[in-house]
Amino acid sequence: MSDDILVHREAGVLTLTFNRPDKKNAITAAMYATMADAIESADADADVRVVVIQGSVEIFTAGNDLQDFMMRPPQIGEGGELPPVFRFLHAIQRFPKPVIAAVCGAAVGIGTTLLFHCDLVYAGDNAAFSLPFVNLGLCPEAGSSYLLPALVGHHRAAEKLMLGEPFYAEEAAEMGLVNRVLPPHEANAYAQAQAAKLAAKPQASLIATKTLMKRSQAHVPELIAEEGKQFGQLLLGPAAREAISAFMQKRKPDFSKL
Ligand code: COA
Repeated sequence: MSDDILVHREAGVLTLTFNRPDKKNAITAAMYATMADAIESADADADVRVVVIQGSVEIFTAGNDLQDFMMRPPQIGEGGELPPVFRFLHAIQRFPKPVIAAVCGAAVGIGTTLLFHCDLVYAGDNAAFSLPFVNLGLCPEAGSSYLLPALVGHHRAAEKLMLGEPFYAEEAAEMGLVNRVLPPHEANAYAQAQAAKLAAKPQASLIATKTLMKRSQAHVPELIAEEGKQFGQLLLGPAAREAISAFMQKRKPDFSKL
C-alpha cells in the first residue's frame, strides 16, 4: 500500500487523496495499485456507498509518473497480471456505486481521463485539465478516445486530444465535464457534502441508476485494452522517449526527425 494515496473511510464514504506533493501528485504503479485495491474492496463492501477522489487545493495530479513510464512502461500482454494502471482503470470503469471527483490545480493526462469515469466532478476555479498524449508521443487512454468525443463532439475532442493544450474550469463546466466550479478551498468540502447526500440514499437505487446510465459504455473495457496496447507500443517508440527525456531534462522536445 502506497502512502502517496491517503485512504480514508467514514460514514459510508471512501475518500482517496493524492498525496505526493513534491512530485505534483504524479501517479506511480504503487499508487495505482493502492487505488485499484481500495476500489475493488469498496465494490464488495456494502458499508462503502460512495467514493471520492481528490487532490489538494494546489494540485489534483500531474498524471502518470513519467520516470515510471521510462523505467517500467506498462504493457498489456497475452495473459499474465494486468499492470496496476489497467487494474485501476478497469476497477473505476466498472464500479457500480457513485464516484465523485474534486479537482483543483492541474489534472494532467489520466488526471483528466479518470474524470470520464466519475459521476460528479467539482472543480476549483484554478483547475487546469490537459490531455497531452500526442505531445508525449502517445495516444489516448482510459477509454477517452470514445468518451471525450461522446461528451463534447469530435471537433472539440480532437482539439483537446491532438493539441494537448490545457483548458480551464469554466470551459470544462461548459463542456459538461464539470458539474460546478467553486473557490479552490471549497471544492473538496463540497464534494464531501455531495457524497454525504448520496450515502444517505437507497444504495440499490443508485446502483441501478448508474448501471442503466452506463449501458451505452458496454464496449469501453475492450476499448481501454485496445488503447492500452497502442499506448504501450508508442511508449517504447522514439517520440515518447524524446518527450519524456526532454521533460526530465527540463528542455523542449525535438520531434523534427520523427
Ligand atoms: N512524472 C514525474 N515527475 C513529475 C511529473 C510527472 N508526471 N510531473 C511533475 N513531476 C515532478 C517534476 O519533475 C519536478 O520534480 P523535481 O522537483 O525533482 O525537478 C516536480 O514534480 C515539480 O514539477 P514542476 O514541473 O517543477 O511543477 P510545475 O508547478 O512547474 O508544473 C505541471 C506542474 C503538472 C504542469 C508539470 O509538472 C507537468 O507538466 N508535468 C508533466 C505532466 C505530464 O506530462 N504527465 C503525463 C501525462 S500522460
